[in-house]
Amino acid sequence: MRARGKSFALGPLPGAPVMRTRGLAIRATMAAAAIGALFAADPHTKAAPRERISFDDGWRFQKGDPAGNAVSLLYDVRTEVTEPRDIAPADAQAKELAAVTAPAQPVIKAWILPTGNAFIRDPARRYVRPKGNWGGDVAYVQRNFDDRMWPRVDLPHDWAIAGPFVTTGAGGMGRLPTAGVGWYRKKLGIPAADAGKSIFLDVDGAMAYAMVWLNGQLVGGWPYGYSSWRVDLTPYVVFGDENQLAIRLDNPPASSRWYPGAGIYRHVWLTKTGPVHVAPWGAQVTTREVSAASATVDVDVTIDNDLGYGATVRIASQIFALDAAGRTTGAAVASLDPVETAVAARSCAMVKGSVVMANPRLWGPPPHQQPNCYVAVTTVSQDGLVTDAYETRFGIRAVRFDPDTGISINGEHVPLRGVCQHHDLGALGAAFNRRAAQRQLELLRDMGCNALRTSHNPPAPEVLELADKMGFLVMDEAFDCWVRGKTPNDFHLIFPDWHEQDLRAFVRRDRNHPSVILWSVGNEVGEQYTGEEGAALARRLGAIVHQEDPTRPTICAMNYAKPDMPLPAALDVIGLNYQGEGIRDRPEFAGTDRIRTPPLYDAFRKKFPHTVILSAETASAFSSRGVYLFPVSKEISAPVRDGQGGDSRLCQVSAYELHAVDYGSTPDRVFQSLERHPFVAGEFVWTGWDYLGEPTPYDTARSSYSGIIDLAGFRKDRFYLYQAHWRPDLPTAHILPHWTWPERVGKVTPVHVFTSGDEGELFLNGRSLGRREKRPYEYRLRWDEVVYEPGTLKVVTYKNGREWATDERKTAGPPAKLTLTPDRAEICADGRDLSFVTVTVTDEGGCPVPRADNRIHFALEGPGDIAATDNGDPTCLESFHAHDRRAFNGLCLVIVRGWAGKSGSISIVARAEGLMSGTAIVQATPNPPSEAP
Ligand code: GAL
Repeated sequence: MRARGKSFALGPLPGAPVMRTRGLAIRATMAAAAIGALFAADPHTKAAPRERISFDDGWRFQKGDPAGNAVSLLYDVRTEVTEPRDIAPADAQAKELAAVTAPAQPVIKAWILPTGNAFIRDPARRYVRPKGNWGGDVAYVQRNFDDRMWPRVDLPHDWAIAGPFVTTGAGGMGRLPTAGVGWYRKKLGIPAADAGKSIFLDVDGAMAYAMVWLNGQLVGGWPYGYSSWRVDLTPYVVFGDENQLAIRLDNPPASSRWYPGAGIYRHVWLTKTGPVHVAPWGAQVTTREVSAASATVDVDVTIDNDLGYGATVRIASQIFALDAAGRTTGAAVASLDPVETAVAARSCAMVKGSVVMANPRLWGPPPHQQPNCYVAVTTVSQDGLVTDAYETRFGIRAVRFDPDTGISINGEHVPLRGVCQHHDLGALGAAFNRRAAQRQLELLRDMGCNALRTSHNPPAPEVLELADKMGFLVMDEAFDCWVRGKTPNDFHLIFPDWHEQDLRAFVRRDRNHPSVILWSVGNEVGEQYTGEEGAALARRLGAIVHQEDPTRPTICAMNYAKPDMPLPAALDVIGLNYQGEGIRDRPEFAGTDRIRTPPLYDAFRKKFPHTVILSAETASAFSSRGVYLFPVSKEISAPVRDGQGGDSRLCQVSAYELHAVDYGSTPDRVFQSLERHPFVAGEFVWTGWDYLGEPTPYDTARSSYSGIIDLAGFRKDRFYLYQAHWRPDLPTAHILPHWTWPERVGKVTPVHVFTSGDEGELFLNGRSLGRREKRPYEYRLRWDEVVYEPGTLKVVTYKNGREWATDERKTAGPPAKLTLTPDRAEICADGRDLSFVTVTVTDEGGCPVPRADNRIHFALEGPGDIAATDNGDPTCLESFHAHDRRAFNGLCLVIVRGWAGKSGSISIVARAEGLMSGTAIVQATPNPPSEAP
């Protein structure tokens, strides 16, 4: 894919027979029915042939191993961490870290490794489970262990998010108690009627080093906390009885550069199938020859036979259109001819099929296209009886990578206006919540963002489902390090044993999502420094990816590798972190031993004229919402220092949005360099939202300063800078700073305006302070000499000479009232849906008080709970579970969750001493609120 249009051939699993079929588009009148009816219509199918049961509720949880436990449950070698510091400068060179010595006691790894066998291509390299039952004597895995005293938890669960925050050491991992062992237990009734079925536990993500026992028998596990994985419970199930599951997790200290979360923090499923069934993520749908008139849809299905004897099965797939909410819209729109294949005992086979669809509804990003999706329903039958039915959601789109112009989708040039996102959900921690993730994407979409980079690990599956539905483009990323590690106990410890399994599982899981356009195999890896050796490893990872998906290019994000080094040539697309704008390319950094680089887009282009170049990471601009520090820099991009955008006493960074990490640049400077290099496919800003951990530049804090949106979900001023540039047709004008400065009367207080207009006139108390225009490569209007006086500041902006948009800031009086604004007044009473309620401190007349820091107490009545509170202040170390919290620069957030199965009115009251309290009502209803696409 280095040159345009190159494609890769996919081989089936070694040894697996391949059958081929070609289908025809069927007319709607011939269509069978929607999915449900598909089975109802089949007289041989009595029950749904595959069950995927949510297995989230009613677990028991306990931290630590049982007292006096004699058996070592250590997975493998680990680095002893004595130094409490857990922050690694982001752009420090990843190295071969201190050699780890094998522990004296035996380790459990040999029993865990076989779980990944389905993701090892070479049969000779697959693992054989040793004899015996490791850990079978441990009290917590016993069927009869009494866990009734353990707290009850529902998944997804993050044991660390409640805190307390740790105030010593550095905040690299978010200052929350992630490290240590946690146990989860749950009973599992399996009816006698299930005998003969295959029973799987599917875990979307558990942090980390998961080990699973069923009825005291060690089943398997998976170390990498961001992977989704499956263990086969079948051999250990007692049918017709209650079974006991026990899962042990072990989070090492110093395992991450950001907050990893802790626990079974994503959804868990119990999957039951017939013994001959579609393999995990076993259907692969790809599309080619895509046009408005037609598209060829290829459906490759891998069938697993869990039986001790061979089976002959018939595979058929039908395609249904989905509406914006992801529901089938009725009749099948296409059908693949059924094909028969033999699957040997305890083996797998692949069936390949294709169909040409007329007038496909293409998937593409808004605003000019629609993210239309389809579902392929594959049925497996034996002797006329349907034994499995499997759904694969997909989209039909033509993605073209062009070295001269970047990326086009279905013929439309789409510059990447992307952001990098970590996996945490702020005050909710790592515990995945669909609504919280959807809210993140909704705000990003409002800003004009069209792309996500899942930095630096596989996301929750639902993030990609949301991206499909909303039409985001995704750079799906697997790893932050390879053999060379960044922190003592990060993924480098298991990379040699697990990279193939993790990478194949990642691609197989995510390859049908139309939103995914790029596979990233790594971020700023230490192998940038190891020449040909590092490049060889990159090529191996790229080859693994292409064996699993020949249709998308590979990339890795490079902050060091230069055009003449081997690594950039090893993958399909060049991904630069900060190098396009230049790194520490200012005289004051001369002589530093850190990375220093002049702007390199042109040098990469010269060396790689046939390769697409994009910025996988830009900016790392810093600010604290609502904090304005003086004096204000005259530059458009400067590092943070005390008195220059930063205050190390307050640990806050100015929101004039003129400062960035030493190796980064402000949005203005990135916009400039992208405009000057139109061949660059676009950018992924570091970061869309603030995240827990990595609180550079003030590591006594808990969370980052780089988000365009703060941790609570409140827009920083930077939001409007991006919105003005990324949505040029939306009339916008945004004034900063606020205009309540009793201590600045008579002092110079610069005023900046972010607007999609090209000119603006600023008025202070009705007096014009002049009309200014944006010159080429300028992205803000500046009145740097304004002298503060209280009153009203107003801007009127113009575009092409016509009035375009206005904004106003008024001087506020003292805090007087609290106003509550729920993001949704109606939520689903399912125990998961959330309303995010913003509390604004206002003066008597309703004007927001910009620096109010009143302590606010929350109370709730009705069928719901306060899930968490926050204020977006990176330095705030109050527990997210506290029901009172001080406002930060006039705002506070309370997150409300309805109880499962209980409809009714939830009333939230916010009180603060001396202020009029505020109330909001959120209705919990049995139905999900309609989902805007
Ligand atoms: C980058 C790194 C990111 C993050 C960022 C912070 O170099 O890739 O993961 O650490 O710096 O500025």
